[in-house]
Amino acid sequence: MAQKMAAGNWKMNGLKTDLAEVRTLLGESKPSVDVLLCPASPLLGAMSTLCDGTWIKTGGQDCHASPSGAHTGDVSAAMLADAGASYVILGHSERRADHGEPDALIKAKAEAALAAGLTPIVCVGETEAQRDAGDTLAVVAGQLAGSLPDVSGVVIAYEPVWAIGTGRTPTLAQIGEVHDAIRASAVARFGAAGDDIPLLYGGSVKPGNATDIFAVSNVDGALVGGASLKAADFGAIIAALDAA
Ligand code: PGA
Repeated sequence: MAQKMAAGNWKMNGLKTDLAEVRTLLGESKPSVDVLLCPASPLLGAMSTLCDGTWIKTGGQDCHASPSGAHTGDVSAAMLADAGASYVILGHSERRADHGEPDALIKAKAEAALAAGLTPIVCVGETEAQRDAGDTLAVVAGQLAGSLPDVSGVVIAYEPVWAIGTGRTPTLAQIGEVHDAIRASAVARFGAAGDDIPLLYGGSVKPGNATDIFAVSNVDGALVGGASLKAADFGAIIAALDAA
């Protein structure tokens, strides 16, 4: 059985003053599910210090595939770990689109993350045109084949590109179809260990739809963007997962 996880992706949002939201969240009692917040790199150290010893873990939003070197503007997995992170989001569709990241690079980053002791959260998901063309499962299978590392110590996030930040979500049946396919592919690739990989759904998860989404088969949690910025919303999503 995979561990349940509510992960928040703050994207390019969040200043030191916004740590007040994290303090508010920490005022809630400890849930039984894993909770993770991934701020932008400048805030990671301060957030990790605030969360050290609490039930909130922290992660990065990307890392370089190399351990160090002449890569201006990039951060290594070891730097994220040094700042207190235990996870890193990789292959988010915004990185695939904005930075042209191909599957092979995401796999190299995932291997670098594992080498630094971080758990990679590898993101996959189809565009609207790919869904309309009936290619969703093939696209996701291809992304998994190309971007997962060769070991099972990962989290996988299914995030349909067209559902991210749009307020639109797939039907529960559509989410279930993709998550079942991802689970089957993880088990085919990693054996029984594939059953233990947390599969997160991401894309416009809100307090109002979280309970329904968490009831879908093979959904072990969520990767939450906008609704993770406010303690009240993210707290409600965590509570929904805890109750699922
Ligand atoms: P959203 O983003 O919850 O704002 O749709 C999800 C994500 O991109 O991880």
